[in-house]
Amino acid sequence: MDHQFWHTRWARQETGFHEGSVNRYLHDHWSELTDRGHETVLVPLCGKAKDLWWLHDQGHPVIGVELSEIACKDFFAEGETRAQVHPGQPFTRFSHDNLELWCGDFFQLVPDDLRHVRLVYDRAALIALPPSMRADYVTHLNAVLPDQASILLITLDYRTGEMKGPPFNVSDKEVYQLYEPNYDIEHVLTNTLAKDHPFARRKGLSEATESVFRLRRRAGNRSD
Ligand SMILES: C[S@@+](CC[C@H](N)C(=O)[O-])C[C@H]1O[C@@H](n2cnc3c(N)ncnc32)[C@H](O)[C@@H]1O
Repeated sequence: MDHQFWHTRWARQETGFHEGSVNRYLHDHWSELTDRGHETVLVPLCGKAKDLWWLHDQGHPVIGVELSEIACKDFFAEGETRAQVHPGQPFTRFSHDNLELWCGDFFQLVPDDLRHVRLVYDRAALIALPPSMRADYVTHLNAVLPDQASILLITLDYRTGEMKGPPFNVSDKEVYQLYEPNYDIEHVLTNTLAKDHPFARRKGLSEATESVFRLRRRAGNRSD
């Protein structure tokens, strides 16, 4: 999935992935990941998700990373908040209070950027990437995240070939293959979306499943 694909999606407002409200799995399961509510959170491939505001409102400093400048600008405009803009390379940073959107390529992050991050929220990031990019995504995440980090990961699975991603189908087995070498994995839940669920119907799927995982990194076990 090249950058132009996403720039075109944003320019044409083809953003069906944008929920427009707080994700229910985030709302229901975030508290199981945090004891203090004040750890810095990374939201990779964040779009303009309302989830960023919700995390901020819980008291977390938040860093969202997003390729599209349209998404970054829309995020603050729709939140009726004026952001300070700090142009730069490889990221232009939009900030308000301790909520920052870094506009640029996730793969340009370096460990020093994320030295304060303890938690990661991944909704529609891993599943936005085709199979060939997913291992690189996890390898890069491992390379830039501090040792103590935990992740709330939400995935989607459906029968291969029933639709053309994104979102791509990521099986539970693949989650274990990608993360088990470095993380303790807790499979929190699976929710089946039947054929007549609006998402399944819209995409022509016979069925889909959403899964939620809690991943805790094992200290001192870096694969980078
Ligand atoms: C499927 S959307 C999900 C957005 C958000 N997580 C949500 O839940 O609404 C994936 C987003 O990742 C962004 N993206 C894709 N590749 C990226 C990259 N290499 N670096 C940063 N953002 C990227 C796209 O522009 C898009 O907004």
